Amino acid sequence: MSETNGRDPTKRTVAEQRSYLVTTVAQAKTITTNWLKGVDLDQAVTLGLPEVDDRYHIWRVPLRKARTRTKIGELVIDAYTTEILPEKTTRPELLEARLLGKREEGTKKANPSELVYKLSELRNTIGYGDSEKLIEEMPAASVDLIFTSPPYFNARPEYSEFEEYDEYLQKMRQVIRRCHRVLSEGRFFVINCSPILLRRASRNESSKRIAVPFDLHRIFIEEGYDFIDDIHWLKPEGAGWATGRGRRFAADRNPMQYKAVPVTEYVLVYRKRTDLLIDWHIRNHPDKELVAASKIKDGYETTNVWRINPKTNSEHPAAFPTELAEKVITYYSFKGDVVMDPFAGSGTVGKAAVKTGRRFVLYDINLEYVQLMQRSAQDWLGKVAEDILCVNVPPISADSRLF
Ligand SMILES: C[S@@+](CC[C@H](N)C(=O)[O-])C[C@H]1O[C@@H](n2cnc3c(N)ncnc32)[C@H](O)[C@@H]1O
Repeated sequence: MSETNGRDPTKRTVAEQRSYLVTTVAQAKTITTNWLKGVDLDQAVTLGLPEVDDRYHIWRVPLRKARTRTKIGELVIDAYTTEILPEKTTRPELLEARLLGKREEGTKKANPSELVYKLSELRNTIGYGDSEKLIEEMPAASVDLIFTSPPYFNARPEYSEFEEYDEYLQKMRQVIRRCHRVLSEGRFFVINCSPILLRRASRNESSKRIAVPFDLHRIFIEEGYDFIDDIHWLKPEGAGWATGRGRRFAADRNPMQYKAVPVTEYVLVYRKRTDLLIDWHIRNHPDKELVAASKIKDGYETTNVWRINPKTNSEHPAAFPTELAEKVITYYSFKGDVVMDPFAGSGTVGKAAVKTGRRFVLYDINLEYVQLMQRSAQDWLGKVAEDILCVNVPPISADSRLF
C-alpha cells in the first residue's frame, strides 16, 4: 500500500485542507483512551470506530461496554484543536451509571415538573485529608453551595507539593469533577483565585505570571459548569505594593516596563449545568419561611467590584476575609443550606456559614488547620460544636482547646 493509502495524491482530504490537528482514527483513539484513563474508565470501556464529521469539524468516538460491546455513549473531539467537547460528550458519571446498569442520582436530565426539591441531610462536618478522596465518600447532590480558594501553585519545589503546573491543574480538575457530583442540580460553585507570580530564578531571567483563573475557567466549563460571573475583589490601594510589582516602573518610567500593581482577586461564579431556572429553586423550596428569611438586605453589592479589606490576624497565611465568605454565602444560598469548602484552611467558610444560618462541610489536608478549625468551631457554635461530624480526627470535646 502506498503512503496515500491508494487515494489520488493530488486530492487533499477535508482534514488536510482545513489543517485539522486530529486527522486520523488512531489520533482520535489515543485522545479517547487518555480521557478514559483520566476518569478511571479505561478498563471498563472499549472504543468503537471513530468517525470525522466535517460539517461540525468534530470526531465522534463511540464508547462501548468492554464486556458486551453495547454502546453507552460517545466522546466528541474538536478536530481543529484536539479538545474534548464536554457538552457533546457523555459525562463520566452517566457512563458509570450505564456500566452498572442503573441511573445514578443527578445523571438524569432535569425535567422541572418531575424534580423534587430535596433538602440536604448533611450535618456540620470537619474532615482531615485529601478532599478529592473525602468528597467521594459523600452522597450525590448533598451540597447546596461550594465556596473555596484553592491551594497556590508555587514553582519552587520546597514550597509546593506540585512540581509541574499541569500536575497542579490536573489535581484541581479531579476535585472540581468530584464536587460536581455532590453539588445539587443548578447550584453554585464560587472560587476565589488570582494569577500567580513566579519569581525569577536569577537576575538574567524575567519573572513569569501564570493566569491560573483562566486555566481553572476552562476546567469548570469542561467539567459541566456554566460560567455566571467574574467578581473582582478590590483591596484597598497600597495592598499590592508589598509585592514590589510596579516599583521599578515608578522609578524609571520606561515604556514596556510598565507593570500594573495587582489590587484585585477574582471571585469566579459557576453554576452546575442545568435546564432549571433559578426561579424553580425559589418556587419549589419546601420551607417558604427559610426562603423569606434568606432575602438579601439593602446595602448589597450591586456591581462586580467588591471592596473588601484583606484579612489580618489569621492563623492561616492565605485566609480570605469572613466578609467575603458572608457575601458569597448570602447571595448564592438559602438559610439552612449546606456550604462546602474543599480547601478550608482556617475554616473561614464555616465561620461565615454559621453567622448566616447555614451548615458547613470543611476539608483540609493539613492536620494543623483541621485542629485549628475544630478549636475555632467552639467559638462559632459554643457547646453545639461537639455535634460536628469529624472525619479522620477525634470528635470535638472541651479538651479540643488543648491542641
Ligand atoms: C488558600 S488556602 C485556603 C484558605 C481558606 N480560604 C481560609 O480562609 O483560611 C488552601 C488550603 O487548601 C489546603 N489543601 C491543599 N491541598 C488540599 C487537598 N488536596 N485537600 C484538602 N485540602 C487541601 C491547604 O492545606 C490550605 O490550607
